[in-house]
Amino acid sequence: MKVLIVGSGGREHAIATSVARSPKVEKIYCAPGNAGIGQIAECVPIGAMEFEKLAAFAKEKEIDFTIVGMDDPLVGGLVDVLEAEGIKVFGPRKNAAILEGSKAFSKDLMKKYHIPTAAYENFDSAEEALAYLQTAKFPIVLKADGLALGKGVLICNTLEEAKDGVASIMLDKKFGSAGNRMVIEEFMTGREVSVLSFVDGKTIRIMTSAQDHKRAQDGDQGLNTGGMGTFSPSPFYTKEVDEFCHKYIYQATVDAMAAEGRPFKGIIFFGLMLTPDGPKVLEYNARFGDPEAQVVLPRMKNDIIEVMEACVEGTLDQVELEFEDNAAVCVVLASDGYPVSYEKGFVIKGLEKFEQAEGYYCFHAGTKQTEQGIVTNGGRVLGVTAKGKDLKEARANAYAATEWVEFENKYMRHDIGKAIDEA
Ligand code: AMP
Ligand code: GLY
Repeated sequence: MKVLIVGSGGREHAIATSVARSPKVEKIYCAPGNAGIGQIAECVPIGAMEFEKLAAFAKEKEIDFTIVGMDDPLVGGLVDVLEAEGIKVFGPRKNAAILEGSKAFSKDLMKKYHIPTAAYENFDSAEEALAYLQTAKFPIVLKADGLALGKGVLICNTLEEAKDGVASIMLDKKFGSAGNRMVIEEFMTGREVSVLSFVDGKTIRIMTSAQDHKRAQDGDQGLNTGGMGTFSPSPFYTKEVDEFCHKYIYQATVDAMAAEGRPFKGIIFFGLMLTPDGPKVLEYNARFGDPEAQVVLPRMKNDIIEVMEACVEGTLDQVELEFEDNAAVCVVLASDGYPVSYEKGFVIKGLEKFEQAEGYYCFHAGTKQTEQGIVTNGGRVLGVTAKGKDLKEARANAYAATEWVEFENKYMRHDIGKAIDEA
């Protein structure tokens, strides 16, 4: 079959790598893709938000199955546009992708269906939000309602900081229209875990757990980024936590969406906080995490196409997911200065070392093919992933492999997965 993947990051490279392993697949296209994806797929210069062009391309090439990797096109309704053209597509429709697209929606859903999450209030105006803060407890968490590249969350320690935060979200529109509404919620403490799942509208199948490192610098210092590295599984995701989440969170979310007339088909990413009062939902995403996909998918034994087709067809109850009994660590190689400002266009050397290395992957995020070779083309450049028998070995392998590639202004964190050694 012919598969089209929509997106251009490390996550889409990881998806493409899994798709390429499926014996059912003869050809992969990616729109717009990147230099690494271009080694296993044909990249086409159509942007992820160019819905009509994507639909026309899929029809012209007689694409059998389309996978939408990114949040923006999902929230914007790409799946609906493709389905209207009779194209088979994996991902939630617009009315279900709102689970990620509006934090106010997802908080109201959790409240209505008694799914554990932080206490909160939604606000449509800065005046009301500011008035509410007068009686609030600190620290407190402010969230822009809409998509903000993972940056629309502010943790405020004092009333002054929170007032400034409300102003930047709702008045200065720091995150654009994402800040037309906002959520103010209770600050929670605990370990964070990312759990990804496949969903077919009724049935949910949970993947192995992972954990992201969002801050730019070692020791979880510095600014929030899209993610500087991940490991899988999380040792904090115990059998007890898993049982709790199955009982109160996973199926409850799928049932809630169905009950609201918004059946969810695709990936639900549960951002969980393991609080002293038990696991609670920090956020939902409607797609694979980036870079969570880079540690979860290499460990998945199933044919990804079979699982995704079951989601589209509503037959996921007949599928059991299987993961390797090992671990994986992904270290992001970024451009120095990310996430603020950084230079691009430096030649990347050593990529060929990954070609023959079993259990090692170099997922491209911001790269571009030029006449000089493959060059850096973004803040997050590569995601170097390695497997190992346990997290310690995977971590050692991943850091060894970060030395195989060189480019000017290469920057990485040195403590991805480190806390787990001490656990
Ligand atoms: P989100 O985009 O909602 O996952 O938020 C981004 C990050 O902000 C999370 O990964 C947490 O580290 C932090 N965060 C979000 N909500 C809360 C909360 N209620 N309490 C503490 N930290 C939070
Ligand atoms: N790594 C977090 C995310 O993809 O949202």
